[in-house]
Amino acid sequence: MNPLISDLALYDIANTPGVAADLSHTNTTCSVKGYAGEEQLADALKGCDLVIIPAGVPRKPGMTRDDLFKINAGIVAGLTQACAENCPKAMINMISNPVNSTVPIAAEVLKDAGVYDPRRLMGVTHLDVMRARTFVSRSKGGDPNTIDIPVVGGHAGVTILPLLSQTRPFPKGGFTAEEARALTHRIQNGGTEVVDAKAGAGSATLSMAAAAAEFAHSCLRGLNGERNVLEHAFVESRLVPGCAFFASKVRLGRVGVEKVLGLGKLSDAEAAGLKALTPELSASIRKGFDFARASIPALTSSSTANAGSRLAAAPGLGA
Ligand code: LMR
Repeated sequence: MNPLISDLALYDIANTPGVAADLSHTNTTCSVKGYAGEEQLADALKGCDLVIIPAGVPRKPGMTRDDLFKINAGIVAGLTQACAENCPKAMINMISNPVNSTVPIAAEVLKDAGVYDPRRLMGVTHLDVMRARTFVSRSKGGDPNTIDIPVVGGHAGVTILPLLSQTRPFPKGGFTAEEARALTHRIQNGGTEVVDAKAGAGSATLSMAAAAAEFAHSCLRGLNGERNVLEHAFVESRLVPGCAFFASKVRLGRVGVEKVLGLGKLSDAEAAGLKALTPELSASIRKGFDFARASIPALTSSSTANAGSRLAAAPGLGA
């Protein structure tokens, strides 16, 4: 339904022709095509300007996002390799968890293929921003669509750091220390709230889809030459020593991230939160780099089809 999309290619290991037929009956001029199975992955990617990767297995209650690493890391590496081969200039929106590690994996795979452009690789943290806007507006009033709250760091537990002190418009009376603590905790654990409520049937899909659609729309606005498109994303960054990737406000343009914006002035509690998140985020990034370096030889010595067969081996995929 997005007027900035002319062709939509859906890829998964199965069932995409049905989803494509279903979607193609909506009142849009966009062409929708489904590609199913590893042998169709290359055709799905050829000519793409933007690739959104939500593939992988979701959490069950009691699991952290990092518990998904074992399965999702290989899936992300295979898909990114296919992007490098078939649409090396596409922007990539990475949703697959753990985002704190899958983005570094994708970066290493793209580097190895000689096509890495840090401006075009973005981890999607927009759902954290949506949650912050929604939870704050419910507790303090205001419209979640117009409220602005930076959410920085990463996309897992304490690495998600909402900067409530920079909320605009700032709520009347501000936040008490207890309100700020409770809201921060809820925003950091929003994903787990959904995982627990779904009781084994997966994690956020609908709110995640809404967030992904909003974020992709902003990327396409930038690609289309619109000026001053601001979003938050987990990108290559020099903002925080020890974290080669970091989520912050970014300005999007024709080539992706045109500028990584600064963190602004932090409250004491936020500065403590930043200090606390750095070791975990830095370890997750390193874990992604290490995995990529160990798996790249196998990835590049096999064909795209072989990379795809790793996808086929993983249960319960949704791409
Ligand atoms: C979310 O934030 O809802 C997603 O990252 C899914 C999850 O596992 O929490």
